[in-house]
Amino acid sequence: MISDQVLEIQNRKGHFVDQTKQTVAVIGAGLIGCSWSALFLASGHAVRLYDPRTEAGDIARAFLAEVRPTLTALGYDCSGFDAPALTICATSQEAVTGAEIIMESIPERLDLKQTLYAEIEPALLPHAIVATSSSGLKLSDLQALMTDPARLVIAHPFNPPHLIPLVELYGNDRTAPDVVPIARAFFEGCGKVCIELKKEVPAHVANRLQAALWREAIHLVAEGVATVEDVDKAVWAGPGLRWAVMGPHMLLNLGGGEGGLRAYVNQFADSYAAWWDDLGHPALTSDTVAALTDGLTQEINGRDYATLRATRDTQLLSVLTALRAARA
Ligand SMILES: NC(=O)c1ccc[n+]([C@@H]2O[C@H](COP(=O)([O-])OP(=O)(O)OC[C@H]3O[C@@H](n4cnc5c(N)ncnc54)[C@H](O)[C@@H]3O)[C@@H](O)[C@H]2O)c1
Repeated sequence: MISDQVLEIQNRKGHFVDQTKQTVAVIGAGLIGCSWSALFLASGHAVRLYDPRTEAGDIARAFLAEVRPTLTALGYDCSGFDAPALTICATSQEAVTGAEIIMESIPERLDLKQTLYAEIEPALLPHAIVATSSSGLKLSDLQALMTDPARLVIAHPFNPPHLIPLVELYGNDRTAPDVVPIARAFFEGCGKVCIELKKEVPAHVANRLQAALWREAIHLVAEGVATVEDVDKAVWAGPGLRWAVMGPHMLLNLGGGEGGLRAYVNQFADSYAAWWDDLGHPALTSDTVAALTDGLTQEINGRDYATLRATRDTQLLSVLTALRAARA
């Protein structure tokens, strides 16, 4: 005989028919958890937030106030930024009670995440999905101590998740087949752009690409080829602007003219082979870090953290708004 719990889980999709109004537990109110909370609330969901820091509620509310104008300008409805849509909870179990989606955003430590899952599992709805923001922990390790590992999915955002569209989804052979599609529908309903990994690799896709670029950026500074500021400029004033519009494969396909990527490869294959051989393998030694931070001091030129963050977000808003209009 099939138990009630199994029947509930088999009927998971039935619980996610209305993607516009879910109850989402956000566990962890740091950089990522606050940003997720803002996005979910602005997307019409109820958020139950838990963080052991006593000041977490104040931090979250201050963050919501800060990002409200940006999200409003993007067309989100921020009227639910207060109670009753937002509930600050005293325990993780209280936060997950009644929640369909659990967005875990606690520090990147396997033991902490495994302990949290063990703590919340008894209080979860049978059909609830647990999504982790983890940047690089293995899903199989995260699932290891779970009673029901089928409900766990990686949903890795790019900072700040309330603005950057990308969410990288990964479910393995222990993840229930309906969990990734449900997670995709949920995040797309919040305006996100999802990709799905077909196999597990450390750091998923986007962080590997970022790591590859940063490695060479560090190498160029360490070798004295260009200053920190000029290397940064080479990205934002150059290919970075194109990358906001299309990915590297598509752009180089255009770089080959009418002949596309094949023509590009015919022309540049030998060059790339030589360039790849010449790329650096820097280490983050104290000397290298000092060179980077000295260079950044010049580039920052006295601006404080809040100013830099506001500059980033204002300009991101302009790019997102312009792209949305261009793609409409
Ligand atoms: N920072 C980034 O750029 C970035 C980007 C994408 C994904 N991530 C991932 O998001 C997750 C969170 O990263 P972050 O940068 O927001 O970290 P953070 O340190 O800013 O925030 C973590 C929060 O979790 C809280 N916390 C600790 N233990 C907890 C527990 N048991 N239950 C509930 N809350 C707890 C802390 O008090 C803190 O407020 C990590 O897995 C990280 O890999 C981070």
